[in-house]
Amino acid sequence: MKADTKLFSPIKIRGVTIPNRIVVSPLCMYSANDGVATDWQFAHLSTFARGKTGLIFAEATAVEARGRITPRCLGIWTDEQAEALIPITSFIEQMGCVPGFQLAHAGRKAGTKTPWKGGTPLDEEDIKAGNGPWDIIGPSDLPVADGWVIPKAMDDKDIEDVVKAFSNAAKRAVKVGFKVIEIHSAHGYLLQSFLSPLANKRNDKYGGDIYGRMRFLLEVVDAIREVIPEDMPLFCRISAVDGFENGWEIGDSVILSKELGEHGVDVVDCSAGGISGAPLFRVNQSGQPMKTNMDRGPGFQVPYAEQIKKESGIKTMAVGVIVDPNQAEQILQDEKADLIAIGRELMYNPFWSLHAAQALKADPDFDMWPDQYKWGVNRRGKLADFKGVRDEIIDEKMVVSHLSEVYKQK
Ligand SMILES: Cc1cc2nc3c(=O)[nH]c(=O)nc-3n(C[C@H](O)[C@H](O)[C@H](O)COP(=O)(O)O)c2cc1C
Repeated sequence: MKADTKLFSPIKIRGVTIPNRIVVSPLCMYSANDGVATDWQFAHLSTFARGKTGLIFAEATAVEARGRITPRCLGIWTDEQAEALIPITSFIEQMGCVPGFQLAHAGRKAGTKTPWKGGTPLDEEDIKAGNGPWDIIGPSDLPVADGWVIPKAMDDKDIEDVVKAFSNAAKRAVKVGFKVIEIHSAHGYLLQSFLSPLANKRNDKYGGDIYGRMRFLLEVVDAIREVIPEDMPLFCRISAVDGFENGWEIGDSVILSKELGEHGVDVVDCSAGGISGAPLFRVNQSGQPMKTNMDRGPGFQVPYAEQIKKESGIKTMAVGVIVDPNQAEQILQDEKADLIAIGRELMYNPFWSLHAAQALKADPDFDMWPDQYKWGVNRRGKLADFKGVRDEIIDEKMVVSHLSEVYKQK
C-alpha cells in the first residue's frame, strides 16, 4: 500500500509545480572553464534528475567575473556560459524535475583556491598561472580575515553595476530554461556581507541600521523580480545567523524575510554562518570545526526555518545535515519548513529521493523511477521476496541482505 507522505507531495509555487519536497542544495563543483559548464556539471546534475529529486539547483553561479569564488567556478555573464547550461535544464525537465539556478557574487570571499587546495586567497603561483590578480569588492575595506585581500569598499556606481549584473544574469538563466531562481545572500558572500554588521561598517544609505544594510539585497531582489516571469518562483538563501557575537541574529532574519516577501521572494532558504574568515565547514589545523557559537548537529538549521516561517509568514526551505527520510518527513509534518534541501547526503547517494520513497513506502511499486530503470529495479525487489517477506522489507538494506541470501543458496 502506498503511504501518504508530505515529502512526496507536490508543492505549487506561483506557476511552478515541484513534484516532491526534496531539493538539491546548490553545490559548487569548481569544474567550469572560464565560467562555462563542462561535462561534469551535466553528469552531476543529471544524476539527481534520474534520482527524481523534485527541485535541482545548479551551483552558485557568478553574475560577473570577479564574483567567482575560484577561477573554476561557474559564471553567467556571457551568452556562451548561459547556452552551455541548456542540456542540463532540458534533461532535468525530461525527468519531470524542476531546474533551479542560484545567482551569486562572492564579494570579499572571491578569488580563492578550491577547497581541496585550502580555500585560501590566490597567491603568486596562481597569478603566474593566469589566475588573478582578482578584483575584490565588499561593503567596507575590511578583509575576511588576516592574510585575505582588503576589498575595495563599493561606491554607488559599483553597487549599480552589480545590481545590473544580477538582473542580466537572471534574464539569461530564464532564457536557457531554469524555472526557479535563487539569490545567494548567505555564507559571507557579497550580499550577506552587506547584511552583517560584522562586515558592513558603512555609514551611507547601504549601511548603518538593518534597513540600510538590507537595501542592496532588496535592490537586487527588485531588479530580478522585474525581469523574470511573474509566475516564476524566486528563492533567497540567507544565513539566518552569523554565529558570532554582535553579528546578524535570527530576529534580523525575521525582519529581512518579511521584507523579502513584500518584494516578491517566495521562499527563504535558511542556511547559516560563513561571515568569518573561512568557507563553510572549514576546520582548523587540528581538524576541529571552526569555533563559532553554532552547533552543527543533525538538522541544526531547522529551528531557523521554523522561526522564520512562523514569524514572517513566508515559505521556508530547511537545510543542513538532513539525512534521514523520517527526519525530513517530520520537519514537514511539524510545519517547520515547506521544502527540504540536501547537499552532502545527495553527493553520497544521488538516488536519495528514490530510496527515501521506498523507506517511507511512498513508492512501493517503483513508479517514481525512470522508465529505463523501473522494470529492472522492480524485478530486483521481487527477487528479494523469495521468502514472501516483501511486505516486511522496510529498507533497502533488507533487500540487499535477502538478495545475498538468494545468491548464497544457489
Ligand atoms: C561541496 C559543497 C559545495 C557547496 N556549494 C554551495 C553553493 O554553491 N551555494 C550554496 O548556497 N551553498 C553551497 N554549499 C552548502 C550546501 O548547499 C548546503 O547548504 C550545506 O552543505 C548543508 O547541507 P548538507 O548538510 O545537506 O550538506 C556547498 C556545500 C558543499 C559541501
